Amino acid sequence: MKQLCIAMVGLPGRGKSTVCSKLAEGLEQEGLRVRIFNNGDLRRSLLGKDSACPEFYDPANSTGRFQREKIMLMNLEAARRFFIDGGQVAILDATNVSRPRRALLERKLVEYPILFVECINNDPDLLEAGIQRKTKLPEFNGLSAEEAVRSFRRRIQYYEQIYAPLSDEYNLVKLDSLNNRILGERIHDVPYYNSIRDILVSDWVRSLFLARHGESFFNVEERIGGDSGLTEKGRAQARALAEHFRDTEIPYVFTSPRCRSAQTVEPLRRLKPETAVISLPELDEIDVGVCDSMRYVDIRRAMPREFMKRAKDKYHYIYPGGEGYVTLKERVDHGLKKALFLSGNLPGVLIVGHQAVNRMILSLFLFRRTEDVPYIYIPQNQYFRIVSTQREKLFKLVRFMPEA
Ligand code: F6P
Repeated sequence: MKQLCIAMVGLPGRGKSTVCSKLAEGLEQEGLRVRIFNNGDLRRSLLGKDSACPEFYDPANSTGRFQREKIMLMNLEAARRFFIDGGQVAILDATNVSRPRRALLERKLVEYPILFVECINNDPDLLEAGIQRKTKLPEFNGLSAEEAVRSFRRRIQYYEQIYAPLSDEYNLVKLDSLNNRILGERIHDVPYYNSIRDILVSDWVRSLFLARHGESFFNVEERIGGDSGLTEKGRAQARALAEHFRDTEIPYVFTSPRCRSAQTVEPLRRLKPETAVISLPELDEIDVGVCDSMRYVDIRRAMPREFMKRAKDKYHYIYPGGEGYVTLKERVDHGLKKALFLSGNLPGVLIVGHQAVNRMILSLFLFRRTEDVPYIYIPQNQYFRIVSTQREKLFKLVRFMPEA
C-alpha cells in the first residue's frame, strides 16, 4: 500500500486549509484513506487564548517556539499512527515556513515520501479579507476588531522573519492558491501525484447559488445603472428567495454595494441571522458611464451611433466613461475568487448579483461563445445552482417563485 505525507507550507491566511480540504475531498473520492492534521486547531484546543498574542510567534520567544514545536510533534505522532493503522495520505496543515522546521519534519517521517505544497497568494485585497476572516476566530474574543487585526498582522510579520520559500526540497509544488495555478514543481517520488495535481489546479465550487436582485423601479422603467430600490414585486421575490432557502445552510451571502442587491438579501438576513453578509465592490453592476439612469430608448434616440456600436458588438462595446463586458471580466473574476476564498470554499454560498455581473460569472462555467455571453438569460425568479469540482459538474436553473 502506498503512503504519502503532504505537508503544507505558507504564511497565515494564504488559503492552506482550503487547499487541504480540497485535497482530502478529492483523494477520498479516489477511495483513499486521508486525514488532515491541523496544528492551528490542536494549538487552539490545547492552549486557547494563551497562544493568541502575537509574541507567542516571535522566533526569539523560546517558550512559544517550544510549545509550537511540541504541537507539531504531537500531530506528527498522530500522522504516524494513522499510517500504521492503514491510512494512505496524511495532510499536515501548518505553516512550516522555516527550513529547520521542514528538516525536522523530514527526519521524523523519514520512512514516508513527503510532498511539500507551498501556497502563495499576495493579493493585498484577499490578504486583508483573509485577515478579517481569521480574526473572527474565538481566540480573538475579548479584543476589539482593530486590535484583533493588528495582533494577527503582527503574527504574520513574525512568520515572515523565518519564511524560506521551498527551493531544494525533494518533492515540491508551488501553488498560486488564488488562481489555482502551479508556479513550480519538482516531483521524484510521489504516489497519487496525477490525481493530486489535478485537484490542485481545479476550481472547487462545492455549491454556489447565483441569484439576481429582485425587480427594481429602474427595471420596470427599463432604465440602466442607477441605484433604485425594489418594487413590491421585487420585495416579494426577495421574500420568496429567503423562504426557499429556509432549510438550507447558507454560511455566506455576497452582495454588490447597490441598494437593490442589499434589499434582496434583507429577508434572508432576518431569517438567518447567523449568515455572514458581505458586500463586494467587485460584484457591482456594469458601470454604464454617461448613460447612467437612461432608458434604452433614450440612448437609441440621443446617441444612435453608440447604440448601433453596442448592438453590433455588445461584448466589446465600452460605455463612454464606463465599462463594457470585456472590461468587466477581470473585476468580476476577482470578485468571485474573493467570495470563494472568503467562504473557505464552503458549500451554500449565495451571490446576489446583477444581470451583467451574473452573465460574467456564468460564462466561467457555461460553454458560450464570447459574443453570446451578454445575452445569457438572467431571470429574477430563478437562481443558478453551480457545482464545479474535479469530479462533479452541475448546473441547474431553479425556480423559487412561480411567475417571472
Ligand atoms: O437593466 C438592468 C441592468 O442591470 C442595467 O443596470 C445594466 O446596464 C444592464 O442590466 C445590463 O444588461 P445589458 O448588458 O443587456 O444592457
